[in-house]
Amino acid sequence: MSFYSNRIFPYILDLLVGTREFGRYRRAALAASRGKVLEIGFGTGLNLPYYPDAVERLAAVDAERMLPARVARRIADAHFPVEIHHLDAQSRLPFADASFDTAVTTLTLCSIPNPGPALAEIARVLKPDGLYIFFEHGRSDDPRVARLQDRINPVQRVIGAGCNLNRPIADLIRNAGFGTISLERFILPKSPRVMAEMYRGEARRPWRGQ
Ligand SMILES: C[S@@+](CC[C@H](N)C(=O)[O-])C[C@H]1O[C@@H](n2cnc3c(N)ncnc32)[C@H](O)[C@@H]1O
Repeated sequence: MSFYSNRIFPYILDLLVGTREFGRYRRAALAASRGKVLEIGFGTGLNLPYYPDAVERLAAVDAERMLPARVARRIADAHFPVEIHHLDAQSRLPFADASFDTAVTTLTLCSIPNPGPALAEIARVLKPDGLYIFFEHGRSDDPRVARLQDRINPVQRVIGAGCNLNRPIADLIRNAGFGTISLERFILPKSPRVMAEMYRGEARRPWRGQ
């Protein structure tokens, strides 16, 4: 936790990915959420207006405590109760096995220092028929773009409060053992290509014997 990541970066976040235009991607990504939802990397709560009516309650996890007054207003406007837990998602989370219908990460797998344990926690707390929804940016399939991502990643990690440009998102999710994965890859318009390689999809919790 630093002054930059806690006090300055949240404003940048709201400015860049808190737009109505970006909200269309959030809405599309979150459309299948339902029931009891876990969101890892809650940030400033920018997903809240885009959750569908089928969501009953949200447990929000974030390592940082960002813009508390603004976040409180967003929570008050939500159509379901929200409980925030300021925790490191790489550690064991205080939730029972198989207790969530949906788990969500948006623009978060880039920032968690070691996303493997966080994905393992998602797998643990999802019900057997639960859905993991992800909307992330990551490594390009174009080797020239990927090389550029590798080169500028050290700078991005500083200005993006730990954000990495070059993570192979689909591999990370598969390596965490998720059994079924639907994946849409696209390039975000009007954004630098190195930051615009999007991964949107849904994955199911691993099943023994699958
Ligand atoms: C780029 S922001 C995205 C915020 C939000 N998901 C969104 O779509 O606007 C990444 C978030 O992941 C959080 N994060 C990074 N590492 C984390 C960790 N180990 N545990 C929990 N949250 C973490 C950061 O604090 C930050 O809020």
